[in-house]
This record gives sequence, structure tokens and C-alpha cells, in this order.
Amino acid sequence: MSMPTVPVITIDGPTASGKGTVAHRVAKQLGFHYLDSGALYRLTALSAQQNHIALDDEAKLAELARVLPCRFVHGHVLLDEQDVTDAVRAEAIGVAASKIAVLPEVRKALVDLQVAFRYAPGLVADGRDMGTVIFPDATQKIYLTASVEARASRRYKQLIEKGFSANMEDLVKDLTERDARDSARTAAPLKPAPGAYILDTSAMGVEQAVQIVLDLYAKASQ
Ligand code: DC
Repeated sequence: MSMPTVPVITIDGPTASGKGTVAHRVAKQLGFHYLDSGALYRLTALSAQQNHIALDDEAKLAELARVLPCRFVHGHVLLDEQDVTDAVRAEAIGVAASKIAVLPEVRKALVDLQVAFRYAPGLVADGRDMGTVIFPDATQKIYLTASVEARASRRYKQLIEKGFSANMEDLVKDLTERDARDSARTAAPLKPAPGAYILDTSAMGVEQAVQIVLDLYAKASQ
């Protein structure tokens, strides 16, 4: 007799597409766990910075990632028991995360940690390769995207609200470069998974996007 599989909804997409917000709300509505896989790459980048490890030292970075001392507690991100919730969201750490994410050994080192988030009653996982690599058998796969301009303006608002400084021109340039790096890499490039529903949120609010995902999931799990 085969074991019933734990349902997974994967939400992949480019930086600042709103996938984190949508994934988090969908998880809450369904009472599912939530995996912010980007945070794991960001934590590895932050840990590398703290330990003075170069962003191209694949072997040392993979070693760090394999034993990443991180915990997620009530929306807070802890590294070595230090609260780094804001530090991991800084733009510089996002850029560093995108650089180390091209390294196959780093990606491999983070696989088990990500798969471990899949337990009852279910999981909503957001990232770049959730539907293509980590959970290829997901119940429902979403590719959530938005225009570079819409994403830059959302990121601008977020940064200003958090008290960081921001500049629209720099953000558009940074997002364009990061999209190119995430899409062009050979290890798990950013692309829609086969069968993924493409959800463009350029002209859509969060609530509408959440509802679409919930409806798709309800249909897929019938
Ligand atoms: O989603 P985010 O901006 O927090 O992700 C930070 C970087 O981590 C992103 O530029 C690419 C990388 N990433 C990845 O390669 N694979 C994932 N599943 C999640 C993030």
C-alpha cells in the first residue's frame, strides 16, 4: 500500500514578484506549513559574510549550507540563535544570495533541508526551483510573475516602509540583472515548471492572486 503523499503547492517566480506574500497567505488559509526557500540562500550568504568566506568558494559555501544553524520561529529568522529577520532581507544579501545560488554544490547542500519542510497537513513552498527540482510531484504548481516595473515599485515601497533607502532606477537595474542571473544559470534555472499555472500579477492585488491559487489548489486536489 502506498503512503498518502503530503500535498504541496509550489510558487516559483522572479525576485519581488510578490510570491512570498501570496505563498504565506495561502499557507495560512489552508493551515499549511510555509517554506521561504530564498531565505535559505540568503542565510547562507549572510553566514558567508559573517565568516569571511568568498562568494565563489563553492566547497566552503556548500559546507556552510549543509549545516546552516537556522530556525524559523513565528515569522522570525534565526541564524546561530541571532534574530536576522531584517538583515537577510537587505538588498546586498539578496544580490549575494543570487550569486551563490548559481553554484551546484550549494544548491545540493540545501536540498534535504527544503524537503524536510514537507510534512502534514501540507506545504506551500516559494522560490525558483520548487516545482522543477525540489517538489516535482507537487499537487499544484504556480509560476508567479509581474513586469520589472511593477516589481521594482513594490520593492521600493517595501524598502522605504522598513526604513531602508531605495532608488527606483537602481532597483530596476538590479532586478533585471538578478532575473538574468537566476534564469541563465545552468543549475536549476528560473523557469516555469511543466504544467505550472502562469499567474501574472502586474495588474492584480494580493487578495485576487491568493484566491486564484486557492481555487486552483481546490480543483487540483479533488
Ligand atoms: O526569493 P529571494 O529574493 O529571497 O531569493 C534570493 C536569491 O536566492 C535569488 O536571487 C535566487 C536564489 N534562490 C534560488 O536560487 N532558488 C530558490 N529556490 C530560492 C532562491
